[in-house]
Amino acid sequence: MKKLSARRRHPLAAVVVLLLALAATGGLYAAFAPAGTAKADETAQSLAIEEGKKLYSVGCASCHGTGGQGTSDGPSLVGVGSAAVDFQVGTGRMPAQQPGAQVPKKKTIYSQAEIDQLAAYVASLGAGPITPTESQYSPDGADIAKGGELFRTNCAQCHNFTGEGGALTYGKYAPNLEGVSPKHLYEAMQTGPQNMPSFPDTTMPEKEKKDIIAYVQAVNGEKADSPGGLSLGGLGPVSEGLFAWVFGLGALIAVAVWVAAHTAKAKKS
Ligand code: HEC
Ligand code: HEC
Repeated sequence: MKKLSARRRHPLAAVVVLLLALAATGGLYAAFAPAGTAKADETAQSLAIEEGKKLYSVGCASCHGTGGQGTSDGPSLVGVGSAAVDFQVGTGRMPAQQPGAQVPKKKTIYSQAEIDQLAAYVASLGAGPITPTESQYSPDGADIAKGGELFRTNCAQCHNFTGEGGALTYGKYAPNLEGVSPKHLYEAMQTGPQNMPSFPDTTMPEKEKKDIIAYVQAVNGEKADSPGGLSLGGLGPVSEGLFAWVFGLGALIAVAVWVAAHTAKAKKS
């Protein structure tokens, strides 16, 4: 008893008590407060990975290997990230069917919930581009004119000036971008599917991707109600000029022939 009261008067006693109290509070906090939610998130996440793994072994492992390490029929998926899975499976490219120059887009066979599970599983194999959130890809408030400029310098050489798409070498092609969702547009830029280069945030920040998405949507909207009626496919001045040349001149020649024929007839009679 004497010993304790002697210690209590020690100049460091207050500090020791304070530290003990802090440690106790910290410990209690760590034990109860955040652990609850973090644990819940963690179990939800590992559940998604578990489900994704099951879907993966049925639909994807034959080509991409049981652990995603790749086979002769498909590349390794380690480090491609959830964004690549969301894009590839969400646009119906994956699971691929027959070999060819380029895996085509087709009807999606998985629900979005299943795609999320597949993406969670693949993301667990190695870090890669993460599926964007709506605030990242939504074109609301983006600069369409700036997007047009960026599109012409970065995308038009393959996708054409308004995203019509076009042929590339060896049977490959850049698809038409009409009707592609903002999320898939964003993911295509993030991940660079097949022959397309990728535009990671380091070279093309989020803001620029949004501008491009806004531009692609704007030109597609314009095509839907083209002011002149028929849009001629929005292929640009050269082909549209050619159209005017061939059909316009053709019509003029037809009129000239008709007039000539009639004057000839008129002279005869
Ligand atoms: C018939 C074989 C086959 C099946 C089945 C298949 N894939 Fe693929 N996958 C491929 C091939 C081949 C490529 C490469 C395409 C290319 O780049 O030309 C590919 C590419 C991918 C990519 C892009 C990788 C990258 O580097 O960006 C992802 C992601 C992917 N597959 C996911 C899946 C998922 C998920 C499934 C199951 C739902 C699946 N694949 C089923 C053959 C297959
Ligand atoms: C070197 C040529 C090239 C360039 C440059 C390029 N792409 Fe692509 N893009 C492609 C090819 C090839 C595909 C088809 C890939 C596939 O099917 O897996 C594609 C696919 C896409 C898709 C998927 C379309 C769909 O129908 O699902 C989008 C979206 C896209 N590109 C957007 C862009 C944007 C935006 C840019 C500019 C920032 C761009 N691309 C630059 C070649 C290119």
